Amino acid sequence: MSELKALKEEHEELMHNLRSIKLQGDAGRLFRDMMHILEAHFQAEEETVMPLLGAVKDLAEETFPQQESQLVDAFTKLKGTYEKMLSEHSRIRDLANRMIEDKSAKKAVSLLHDLLHHAAMEEEILYPTALLAGRLIKKDSNSI
Ligand SMILES: [Fe+2]
Ligand SMILES: [Fe+2]
Repeated sequence: MSELKALKEEHEELMHNLRSIKLQGDAGRLFRDMMHILEAHFQAEEETVMPLLGAVKDLAEETFPQQESQLVDAFTKLKGTYEKMLSEHSRIRDLANRMIEDKSAKKAVSLLHDLLHHAAMEEEILYPTALLAGRLIKKDSNSI
């Protein structure tokens, strides 16, 4: 099952850069809360959104995606966690925005903006695309 390499690399880079940041006081507490949510959130995306996105090219080119049953499982799991993942984005956004406003978190601001952009891209394009891919694969698997 092919994963979406570009998104996986973006996760790794974001996580690597975030882990190098040390914040104190209130900003440090907000940061720790955000990282706690983010670690499980990235993991969930890598198990659901990414495999489905990895099949988009095949679907667009009308090639039969490999390992269809695993993709159907990823789709079922994504549908079951979609609302939770969106609410995690809201929580991440809230924590990141509070840190951006905190003067003591200056060194993290640019990275937090990258993270906000990442979440917006996922909500506007990548999550809906993964859902569409899942629907197509499921329809296809039901028609066999
Ligand atoms: Fe992500
Ligand atoms: Fe996300």
